[in-house]
Amino acid sequence: MTIWEQELDSIKNEGLYRQLKLVEIIGDEGYAMVNGQSMLMFASNNYLGLASDHRLIRASIEATNQLGTGSTGSRLTTGNTSLHEKLEERIASFKETEAAILFNTGYMANIAALTTLVGKEDVILSDEWNHACIIDGCRLSRGQTMVYRHADLEDLESKLKEADHFRRRLIVTDGVFSMDGDIAPLPGIIELAKRYNALVMVDDAHATGVLGKDGRGTAEYFGLTGEVDIHMGTLSKAMGAEGGYIAGSRSLVDYLMNRARPFIYSTSLPPGVVASALTAIDIIKSEHVRRVRLHYISERLRQALTALGYHVLGGQTPILSVMSGQVDEAMKLSQALYENGIFAPAIRPPTVPVGTSRIRLTVMATHQDKHIDQVIQVFKKLAAK
Ligand SMILES: Cc1ncc(COP(=O)(O)O)c(C=O)c1O
Repeated sequence: MTIWEQELDSIKNEGLYRQLKLVEIIGDEGYAMVNGQSMLMFASNNYLGLASDHRLIRASIEATNQLGTGSTGSRLTTGNTSLHEKLEERIASFKETEAAILFNTGYMANIAALTTLVGKEDVILSDEWNHACIIDGCRLSRGQTMVYRHADLEDLESKLKEADHFRRRLIVTDGVFSMDGDIAPLPGIIELAKRYNALVMVDDAHATGVLGKDGRGTAEYFGLTGEVDIHMGTLSKAMGAEGGYIAGSRSLVDYLMNRARPFIYSTSLPPGVVASALTAIDIIKSEHVRRVRLHYISERLRQALTALGYHVLGGQTPILSVMSGQVDEAMKLSQALYENGIFAPAIRPPTVPVGTSRIRLTVMATHQDKHIDQVIQVFKKLAAK
């Protein structure tokens, strides 16, 4: 037995072995082909249904025809087109900041910000349930990290007091927490940041396009646009494309362009992806109806599942975590959903803490009422067993 087989065996023994499923042909009405079978998709981050929108596809094809499939180099060498610059300007205006900078993924945007903006004399104050790429950014940065209890302002304040002697303090939080679907207490965080002279960074991966009247994210939702120092977001979820960004002041963005290694040493996004993201921002700003529908059906599903006796986390977002607790229970529920035509995989440790395995249901604006009814019926049937 090789050492890797031994390692894999211990993963398998804990019930944590992961296997890929083929997810092909994203239908625009809530269905997808999973391992060759048509399934109702309740696991995608394609919240507004834009990943299969014909306008994004057309923009991507046109840009690819014009500029080619690859960008051929880093932004600082040969990989900078007018589309890249236009997208950065459009993101900055969307997030109401002076400037923005693109990265190839949201993951890289977080790594770039945390490793570039935090030095040896600085400290990061990070919510304990922040996304894995924030955790990795903290590990890779040369500063220290203090983890505060999830959304706990008292704990954050006591950590800020302890962090008094550092040169700079950076508070970082998911805007919408990816696995629980709850919203960060941003007003309290900003108040503390002002009191203790700290910077605030918000990861709006799951809030962009989803929260706020115009979909600008968590700051807009709380009426706090302009109060966040560093806005991080992805183009890969509600935007239906691929890539990540940091938005903020002109000097912040210039500094990242000069120093952020994931920006400097990686080939930039391909033109087709950039063009589809540009189109997505216009749709997000103008088609409010998608967001209104998304929140309406998410709430309907949340209330129905709660009434059936399920413990559903989150609120006011399209992420509904149906708690199972133990790994095998979550796996059984996911399998039962699968057998009933619903794709919603179990989320297990290490993605979530031990004892909090769950089904993470995500709603899309393109789900029809009959799809929501179907999910409710299946959960009802399974609850009765
Ligand atoms: C909160 C959060 N931040 C960042 C990311 C990374 O974004 P991307 O998928 O664009 O790399 C994710 C994706 O899962 C996320 O959930």
